[in-house]
Amino acid sequence: MNYKIKAFQTSQMEAKYTLQQLALRNGQDKPEIWVAYLGKIYDVSESRLWRNGKHYEHWAGQDLSEELKDAPHTESVFQKFKQVGVLV
Ligand code: HEM
Repeated sequence: MNYKIKAFQTSQMEAKYTLQQLALRNGQDKPEIWVAYLGKIYDVSESRLWRNGKHYEHWAGQDLSEELKDAPHTESVFQKFKQVGVLV
């Protein structure tokens, strides 16, 4: 197995979404609830804490990398969620 080629193929297959596409996954316009953090997009639809796309003062469907600094938790909260793609 050539790991360099495998890594290349994986990154090529990653789903890519624009900010506009992400914005539709805000818990209001489409059933999916997605959040971007440091270029990665996570599906938080299953979370009770993101119901209707709202999490405390924050809305899903956005890149919330900067906002995480104000949160009382670290990025470890994303561990249990599936990464659905990358932000382009
Ligand atoms: C004022 C800002 C915020 C407050 C007060 C807040 C509060 C919380 C609390 C209390 C929890 C559950 C306990 C924990 O896991 O520590 C939580 C979970 C979580 N937070 Fe935040 N948070 C804030 C901002 C953010 C931001 C900006 C993001 C995204 C970049 C975020 C993403 C998450 C995620 C993904 C979870 C896990 C949800 C789950 O396990 O169902 N939070 N937050």
